[in-house]
Parts: sequence; C-alpha cells; structure tokens
Amino acid sequence: MKLFITGGAGFIGSNFIFYMRRTHPDDDLVCLDKLTYAGNLETLAPVMNDPKFKFVRVDIADRKAVCDLFEAEKPDVVVNFAAESHVDRSIENPAVFLETNVMGTQVLLDACRIYGIRRFHQVSTDEVYGDLPLNRPELMFTEQSLLHPSSPYSASKASADLLCLAYHRTYGMPITISRCSNNYGPYQFPEKLIPLMIANCTAGKPLPVYGQGLNVRDWLYVEDHCSAIDLILQGGKEGQVYNIGGHNEMRNIDIVKLIVHTLGRSEELITYVTDRKGHDMRYAIDPSFIHKELGWLPQTRFENGIVKTIQWYMDNRSWWENILSGEYINCYDRLYGR
Ligand code: NAD
Ligand code: DAU
Repeated sequence: MKLFITGGAGFIGSNFIFYMRRTHPDDDLVCLDKLTYAGNLETLAPVMNDPKFKFVRVDIADRKAVCDLFEAEKPDVVVNFAAESHVDRSIENPAVFLETNVMGTQVLLDACRIYGIRRFHQVSTDEVYGDLPLNRPELMFTEQSLLHPSSPYSASKASADLLCLAYHRTYGMPITISRCSNNYGPYQFPEKLIPLMIANCTAGKPLPVYGQGLNVRDWLYVEDHCSAIDLILQGGKEGQVYNIGGHNEMRNIDIVKLIVHTLGRSEELITYVTDRKGHDMRYAIDPSFIHKELGWLPQTRFENGIVKTIQWYMDNRSWWENILSGEYINCYDRLYGR
C-alpha cells in the first residue's frame, strides 16, 4: 500500500508518519509538503533515510506538480493534513487559507479522480461546527451538528469538507472525513496555546491569555488522533464523517496554570491580553459514533499526556528554539504589538 501524506512536515502529519511507520512497516509513505513556516524538515529526520519513506516538496494547490506526482507514484491512499492551521493567522490574512485549505483540497480531489484512488481521507476539525455556550455543558458536537464556522480558518475547513462530500456524491469518490478536537503533543508549532506557554514559561516571558481565559477546548493527545485516522482508513465507510475527541474539556486558564506549576514558575507571568476576534467559547466533541463503529478509544489520559508533552519540550529545546525566530517572531509582534 502506498500512502500520500500531505502536510507531513507539520505537527499532526509528522506524528502520523511516525505512527504509521511503527504500526504498518510494509506501507510506502510519501510526504507532500510545501514547507511553509509551519513545516519543518528537521522533524522528519528520523525517517528521512528510510527506504519506504519519501519526502517531496510540493504545494498541494499546484495542479501540475500534484498531477505529475500522482502519475509518477500512483498512490493507493491520500491523507490530507496539509493546511494553514492557525486561527489567529487566518484573522490577519484569510487569503492563503482559501488557497491551501480549499483550492489545495480541490486539486488533490481532482488528481484522485483522474488517477484513481482507494481512499481520500480529509483531516478536518471540530471548529467547522462553530462553538457551544458555556452554560449548556450537556451540548456536544455530533456528526449531525450543523456547520457554523466562526473564523476564516474554520470556514475554509468547512468548505473543504463540503467539497469532499460533493465529490463523493457526484463522482462516487471514496472519501472519509474526520473532525477532531484540539491536539497536543510533540512537534506542535510554538504558536499554539500549549507549546507557546511552555516556551514562554521556560524563558520567563509573559503568558498571553486571551480575554479572561475561560474558553474551553477538548484536548486529545496527538497519537490518539493518529490511531483514529488509521482505523478510519482501515474500516471507515465511504462518504462518512467521524468526530474524534477525548472527552477532556478544559478552560484555557487552567491549562496555562497547570503548565506554570509543572515548570515551577510563578502565576505572575500570566498576562491577560485582548481577546481573539470572534473567539469560539467552547468546543466539545461527542466521539460515540467512531467508538461504536470502529471501536476507537483514546489511550492517553490528559494528566499523563500533558506531563509527557512538557517533558518532550524540555528534552527537545533546540527543536523549538530554532523555530523561535524569523517569521514566527514577526507574527508574534504583529499580534501582540511587541
Ligand atoms: P501544522 O500547521 O502544524 O502543519 C501543517 C503542514 O501543512 C505544514 O507542514 C505545512 O508546511 C503544510 N502545508 C501548508 N500549506 C501547504 C500547501 N499549500 N501544500 C503543502 N503543504 C502545505 O498543522 P497541524 O496542527 O498539524 O494540523 C494538520 C491538519 O489537522 C490540518 O488540516 C488541521 O486543520 C487539522 N486539525 C488540527 C488540529 C490541531 O489541534 N492542531 C485539530 C483538528 C484538526
Ligand atoms: O479544535 C481544533 C483546532 O484546534 C484546530 O482545527 C486548529 O488547527 C488548532 O490550531 C486549534 O485551534 P485553537 O484556536 O483552539 O488553538 P490555539 O492553540 O490557537 O488556541 C487554543 C485556545 O487558547 C483558544 O481559546 C485561544 C487561546 N489562546 C491561544 C494562544 C495562541 C490564548 O489564550 N493565548 C494564546 O497565546
């Protein structure tokens, strides 16, 4: 089996490559990645010399390059992780989110139509459902919840989902979609909440908490996301959406305090800053369908996963310290004005 894994130099894609390498050693893996600011070849160093792994630098929105690659490699399965993924950046500059997340997905779908495919799996997000109120804890997103995206990022992901479903209905393409909650774990770019707080805390820098820090996210260890996608590839039904989540809702401020205490720092580092525009209040996934259909359950409890994650960032300081320069700093300055 040959898999095209797009966005494999990013956070979840790289973890998925390592997961598949371990669990399906006979598969051929081809990573397609444009290497934007979020893609890091250093992350893929452990597999670069593996004869059953290949890296190709390509923009998924480049139709000719993508078609040439399909013709040359003839993949059986495509797993599309490639995306612009940071909500704050989408608020600053939506255009590139449409180019990659919508048009890039369409290019991949077209290539799959032309060259044939056993499965196209679209890695989507719980953010396509919009948000839930804090005072209705019984509400959760199911696969039947309406799409109601809030940010240019989530609108672009919802658009891509709709395109995938339309290609399934119109052309009978073998599509599956997963919508996962917030991931955490090794190799997450230090612009996202958990790695940003770990990095700033380590450096004794302010910890910027948006608004009052009361927003709730449903956190899942990245390897559990990978195992869910693997199960969907193996036994998922074509045309089906699968929600993935860990029943682990936490307020941002509680996550930040947990990191502060684990690293032995002072809560005085916590700095409340201007809220994100259109900030989603709460996400909560109901993962009962994927459990019932495919037997998926998360394996890592948050209290263990967060300790492992903090330890990973402590043990791999050069990975994120190398990143904390250039583009990232410019964006940080634009967002926080310092
Ligand atoms: P990331 O930003 O860490 O990585 C994205 C990768 O895609 C990078 O390697 C980047 O170079 C690559 N890329 C970007 N534009 C590209 C293009 N035009 N062509 C080829 N490659 C391109 O993102 P992530 O957090 O790993 O997210 C991966 C996927 O999972 C995304 O589709 C995201 O929407 C989805 N998702 C993320 C989370 C989360 O918590 N991080 C949760 C649910 C779903
Ligand atoms: O829910 C899945 C989504 O999770 C994915 O689709 C996105 O790709 C991924 O980036 C993530 O989106 P969020 O916006 O939830 O993640 P982020 O880490 O940016 O922020 C998490 C919460 O923390 C959110 O409520 C905003 C807040 N926050 C974030 C940052 C970066 C802060 O308070 N301060 C910060 O500095």
